[in-house]
Parts: sequence; C-alpha cells; structure tokens
Amino acid sequence: MDELRERLRPLLDALYAGSDESIEALCDRFVRRIEAARTARSPELKALDENTDPDWYKASETVAYVLYADLFSPEAPDGQKINALRENLGYLTDLGVNLIHVLPLLKSSGDAGFAVDDYEQVDPRFGSAEDLRALIGAFHQNGLRIALDFVLNHVSDKHAWAMAAKNDDPHYRNFFLWSDSEEPWPGVPSVFPEFAPGHWDYVEKADRWVWSTFYKRRPAGSEHDRFPFAQWDLNYRNPNVLLGMIDTLLKQANWGVDVFRLDAVPFLWKEQGTSCTSLPQVHTLVKLFRLALQSVAPGAVLLAEANQALEQLVDYFGEGDEVQIAYHFTLMPALWQAVTLGRTESIPEVLTRLPRALDRAHWWVLSEVHDDLSLEMLDEATARELSGYFLAGGALPFRQLEAEDFPRGISGTSFTLLRRDPRRLRLLWELKLSLGWTPLFYMGEELGVENDLGFRDDPERREDSRFVKRVALGEDRKNRRGEAGSTEAHLFHSLSGLIAWRKQHTCLAQPPDFFQTGSPAVLGFSKQDAHERLVILANCSEAQQTVTIPGLGVKILKPFEFWCDAG
Ligand code: GLC
Repeated sequence: MDELRERLRPLLDALYAGSDESIEALCDRFVRRIEAARTARSPELKALDENTDPDWYKASETVAYVLYADLFSPEAPDGQKINALRENLGYLTDLGVNLIHVLPLLKSSGDAGFAVDDYEQVDPRFGSAEDLRALIGAFHQNGLRIALDFVLNHVSDKHAWAMAAKNDDPHYRNFFLWSDSEEPWPGVPSVFPEFAPGHWDYVEKADRWVWSTFYKRRPAGSEHDRFPFAQWDLNYRNPNVLLGMIDTLLKQANWGVDVFRLDAVPFLWKEQGTSCTSLPQVHTLVKLFRLALQSVAPGAVLLAEANQALEQLVDYFGEGDEVQIAYHFTLMPALWQAVTLGRTESIPEVLTRLPRALDRAHWWVLSEVHDDLSLEMLDEATARELSGYFLAGGALPFRQLEAEDFPRGISGTSFTLLRRDPRRLRLLWELKLSLGWTPLFYMGEELGVENDLGFRDDPERREDSRFVKRVALGEDRKNRRGEAGSTEAHLFHSLSGLIAWRKQHTCLAQPPDFFQTGSPAVLGFSKQDAHERLVILANCSEAQQTVTIPGLGVKILKPFEFWCDAG
C-alpha cells in the first residue's frame, strides 16, 4: 500500500494541490477505495489474474470485433439480449474473432447507450447484471476476451449525480461545470454541430447552462427540449468526481472485464483559452485510472478512444503508464484512401512518421466502428475528395459545419462506402490483417451489411446519421452465410479464411517495413519475426500493375491483387 500511495501522491498533487482537502487526506481516500475493490475481487478472478500474461492483448492471434448486443440478437425478447449473445458465441468463433467489444449495456437514456443513467445497473432491455457476469464467464471459458465502454467524460442528465445537481444539492452541483451564459469558449470544437451545437446545455430548473460536449437536451437556440436526455460532462477538478469514477471502473473490473474503452477521453479537462482537448491534466487522470486498475485487476487494460492528430494520439501511451492500446484513427482514413482512390502513399507516411510511436504503441487497426468515419485529420483537399466519393455512393454526411462545403465525418457501412464492391472490401480486410498490431472488425462487415435509412423515422435519432450503420444482424441474415452463392456466404468465408491465415503467421502482427514499389497504387512491405519473413504487395487499383522490386524481380499484379510470399 505504501508503494501505491507513493505513486498516487504526485499525480493527485498535480491535479488537486491547493484544494480544501490535503493531498495526504485525499491519498487516504483513494487508497481505501482501491483496497476495498481488491478485497472484493472474487477468488476466481484472482486466480485468472495470476495466470494472465500482462501483454496478452498483443498476441498475434488476437482479432477484435465490435457489436451491439441488441442488434446482434434482434429476435431475442427484451431482457434476453445478453443471454442470446451468450448462446450465439458459435457465430463469433466461426468467424475467428476473439476479443469482443460489446457496446454500451448499462442503463441509459440515449446516444445508443453512451448517456449512462446508472453504472451499476444493466439496461433491463438487455438483461441483468447476473446475465452480464455469466456472459463474461462464458467468454472466458471459450477463450474469448471482452471489452466494455468506460464512459467517463459524461453522465446522462438522469444519472443520480445530475438529478441532485439539478435540485441544487451543493455537493453534487460541483460535479458539473456551470455558466450563466451560453457564450461558447473560443477555440472549443463543436462535436455535434448539426444537432447539438456548442458546448452548453440549458437547464431550465437551474436557469443556467451546464457543460455538455455531446448530446444536449436544450442546445443554444432551442426554445424547447430537442432531445429527451443530455450528456453532462463531469467536472474532474472536483476530486470526488474522480474518486466516484475510479470506484465505477474498479467495480466493473471486478465483473471480469478485460479491456476498458476510454470513451471520449480527450475531453476530460477544460481550461479557458485552450481547445479543451487532450490537456496535460487529461494524461494525469489517465495515469490515475491506470494505476487504480492495475492495482486491482493486473490483466485488465485500457484502450484510448482519442480521435486526435497522431502527435497527440501517441501521448496517450505516456511512458508506458497510460493506455496500453489506442485506435489508430490516423491510419483509418489512409486505408480508405488506398482502397477507394487507389493511392497508398498515406499508409507508410502515417506509420513511419513517428518512429517512437511504433515501439511503445499497440494499435487497434480499424476501418470502421459504430461512429462516423472521421476525415478530420486529413488535409482539406483529400478530405473533400474522399467525402465526395463516399457521398456520391450513398453515404451520409456527419459533422457538416455551415461554413464548409464538405462534411468532417461520413456515415455508412463498409459495403456501402465501397459501393458493394467485394474486391475492395477483401483488400481492406487483407490490409487490416497484415499491417500489424490488432485488427478490428465492426458487426456486419463480414456479411456485407448496407446502410439502413430506417433511423429517419425515429425523431430522437433522425438527425444523427451514425444510426444509418447500426443495423440488426437477424438470424435470416446470419444464416445466409450458409447459402452457397449468397453475398453473405462469399464475404463471411472470405473473412474467416483471412482471419485463419492471419493466425497462422505470427509475423503479421509485427509493424511493417515498407519498401518502394514505383507505383502509387501498389503498397509494398515485409513482415518479420523470429519464425518467418513475408513479403507483401497490395495492388489497390482497378488496373493491372507491373512493378520491379529489387530481390523479387518483375511482378505483374492483377486488379486488387494482394500478393504474399515467403521472403
Ligand atoms: C464516443 C462514442 C460515440 C458517442 C460519444 C459520446 O465518441 O464512440 O458513439 O456518441 O463518445 O459518448
């Protein structure tokens, strides 16, 4: 415990020096909370901890998959979604995925579960807390790991803390950030500019404004409630907020969660005169969450959801004392550029720009998640070109600023974005599975699910185009993977075969070594580990390409051919 206290002290001091409570008293409260969680950890989980390699998440056979429990089992009645997922693990193991991110399951008021009302209660539509624990147990018994969202930047305005603050409880008022004016702080980005602009939510009962980065019940300019809920940002300047959220994290760790996805982590700390994103205090907070987690659940790891420029993104790995994994949000649009425009140069540029990032970082390599595809980190010309390609093919805009003529985000399933071209989709998978680290797949990618405009009939969702890709995977659709000749069968078997290929070659998890191919459409790289070396050429264009590679000679590559050989 003394060691824990020694490590806590400077971190708490950096955030809370000068507050009413002494740092020693604060340390006491944190240590007690962490101790209590350690004592509460079950003997089964403690036994698992002892047998867990702390680097398990880097294993080359790990393949991640993200799903919504309700959309994965749409036929199951309310209350049975979690149980239905538990009974359907065969679908996931057939595909070959083994680290499953189950999107929010807790009691929530909206934003597809990201407006959490109660961190201790499972959404009754999905099932119970016992069902969730049984699901986690079944995952572990079947060799699967589970990732859950840790929504730590905000709570719904129906959460007990927010309700107490609305009722002017002096203790809880200070859990949030208030203003007498709706005037935005200059330089702070608007995350949902179309339907929840700015960063203040009007609270009628208090006749004041409260900080809200995401959904606002009553955004500036609305006379009446626009949504039946809001997401209120937590005030981490108040140590009681941090303590409360550490408590939440540790309780969930004691359910047996393997990966905690730090939702919207860049926004945790606000400082006037800054962009209020990825401030130094955010990193101190992440260090504190990491320290608390590893003290209780040494095998559990943190995943950063930080859609930031690469230079800021790599900071989330700290000195090995922040997150273990981050989504590679900069590689994501580079992959899309390759498979749609046939231009591969951004991939090596992104992956070699920061050599230090390659050593320390472990990435989830993704092409889509449940959100929009962000074009924010691209230069303006490329963002305009890519969005033009997608919108002309049936994708929807997201985050369209009035002053700009193209959106900063694109909503659509992979198959829609690729205009139903299975060759491009397969190439995208081949790249995700071979570039290195851990590949991630979003539910339905494997079946060629397309955009569904049904969300437009729901007044609460119709303005949030991300819902276009939150599509149910009913039994009929899943079963079509067994019908020879169907798109579903073709794609599912194509992906499961590629995943099996990836698992046979441990070197594929290693970072790539790029070489020149002389053609902007052909990406060339090699992979090496102690067992094997592979050389890969990926023709990302619709045309045949002839390349001459030193040591390999002349290669003629068919359209979209992915060529791989022992090097
Ligand atoms: C993250 C989630 C997104 C959600 C937002 C607010 O970005 O991925 O779906 O709307 O956080 O919680």
